[in-house]
Amino acid sequence: MSGLFITLEGPEGAGKSTNRDYLAARLAEQGIEVLLTREPGGTPLAERVREILLAPSDETMAADTELLLVFAARAQHLAQVIRPALARGCVVLCDRFTDATYAYQGGGRGVSEARIAALEHFVQGELRPDLTLVFDLPIEVGLARAAARGRLDRFEQEGRIFFDAVRQTYLRRAESAPQRYRILDAAQPLSRVQQALDDLLPQIVELCRG
Ligand SMILES: Nc1ncnc2c1ncn2[C@@H]1O[C@H](COP(=O)(O)OP(=O)(O)OP(=O)(O)O)[C@@H](O)[C@H]1O
Ligand SMILES: [Mg+2]
Repeated sequence: MSGLFITLEGPEGAGKSTNRDYLAARLAEQGIEVLLTREPGGTPLAERVREILLAPSDETMAADTELLLVFAARAQHLAQVIRPALARGCVVLCDRFTDATYAYQGGGRGVSEARIAALEHFVQGELRPDLTLVFDLPIEVGLARAAARGRLDRFEQEGRIFFDAVRQTYLRRAESAPQRYRILDAAQPLSRVQQALDDLLPQIVELCRG
């Protein structure tokens, strides 16, 4: 038995967490229980690594340090949560995964794609998400939503060039593999975004039922 691995991606404030919960509720109505998780994090140890990654600090974090911490947390999350859940046949809904590494550490920080791909293979082997929902929106809209939540984390303190690169990397990856990705216009009112998810629901249910 092998489950289904769905990831939600997009920049700050795009609505990943909100819509992850919404999608889980719609799937539950269809009798499909999902496991909700997130990155960086998803286990107690990986959540501690998340705190290191997000905490603003006077010491600049080297790009490679950031990259290795992201994948260290991911290795733990895969070992403790994701792989066991998929092996039990679960549908896993994960808020951010390796596309975020390509977008933030690759696009944002300028780490080469080859370097990220090498770690992706090292940590994940052949495991890739079955479906990735990309919540796309102009960066200022997302940042305004994130800022309304309060204190900015280490990534949210970055500037426009960084987030433009994040957004463009997500879009480029999604456009290069349309069978795996669905792009949603996340700048719309939440009810419209959720309507778009409802429209995708039959496809997602079919994937879940295998
Ligand atoms: N389509 C929308 N229109 C207006 N507000 C929205 C929309 N989607 C989400 N929000 C609001 O924007 C804020 C950020 O949403 P959410 O936390 O789901 O985003 P996120 O993508 O998970 O952000 P982060 O990357 O920072 O975790 C929340 O207050 C949420 O209620
Ligand atoms: Mg979130």
